[in-house]
Amino acid sequence: MIHDDTIQLEGQRRGEAPVYGPEAFEGMRRAGRLTAEALDLLVEHVRPGVTTDFLDRLVFDFAMSHGAYPAPLLYRGYPKSICTSINHVVCHGIPNDKPLREGDVLNIDVTLIVDGWHGDSSRMFFVGEVPRRAARLCDITYEALMRGVAAVRPGGNTNDIGAAIQSYAESERCSVVRDFCGHGLGRVFHDAPTILHYVEPSYNVPLKPGMLFTIEPMINLGRPHVKVLSDGWTAVTRDRSLSAQFEHTVGVTETGVEIFTLSPKGYHKPPYHAAG
Ligand code: MF3
Ligand code: CO
Ligand code: CO
Repeated sequence: MIHDDTIQLEGQRRGEAPVYGPEAFEGMRRAGRLTAEALDLLVEHVRPGVTTDFLDRLVFDFAMSHGAYPAPLLYRGYPKSICTSINHVVCHGIPNDKPLREGDVLNIDVTLIVDGWHGDSSRMFFVGEVPRRAARLCDITYEALMRGVAAVRPGGNTNDIGAAIQSYAESERCSVVRDFCGHGLGRVFHDAPTILHYVEPSYNVPLKPGMLFTIEPMINLGRPHVKVLSDGWTAVTRDRSLSAQFEHTVGVTETGVEIFTLSPKGYHKPPYHAAG
């Protein structure tokens, strides 16, 4: 069984994982690319003194001017267009009017709907200079995501992804969050299959060409346990240790995997000025 507290955002997550054809892959390429462009746009704006409300507005305006809609907005009552999860916030942090501070690390999670297709991606960002342990955690989490992506192949299964992520993260003395997971997506935001970022022998879905899903590991410097604050969304580490996350939307191909949300600007992981 999946960990008891694994949060199931939508009922469609249960049941068979759908497989899609070439038109869906075309749609996912457009949605994934626009989502990646929105994240690229944020790079030059993330600095001390900027509010997450401002970043939220930038993505909302970007979506509107490109004929897209930000999927989180009004999703199950969520009030904003993006999630901004700072330091010990694991995921689903809600943008607000508090200025970012030098040394913060934050995840920004963008999901854009383009012609009905969902592109879902998140990256870590540095606010000015950040502590070495924070930069190390971001490096480990990016590597964990990319090892998970590399484990995707037709004929494989979902536990290959979890094994690649968990074995690497734990070898670096970090922990994998159990309470949130990756998910199938396409014309809906959260669909089957559930993508766990750890090994769970009792849930192991065979991977077939045409499947679409996210991989989005949340990795903590401390223990894996999470609690959700009274706003009903913000998830934080119980031990207040730092948490990081990266997310890509991928499709299973005949030969391996296609990443739909790669950064056109090469802004794969911070610090981004080195790449730009
Ligand atoms: N984008 C998140 C994910 O990766 C989901 C955010 S749902 C929201 O699945 F309502 F919190 F925005
Ligand atoms: Co997602
Ligand atoms: Co996301």
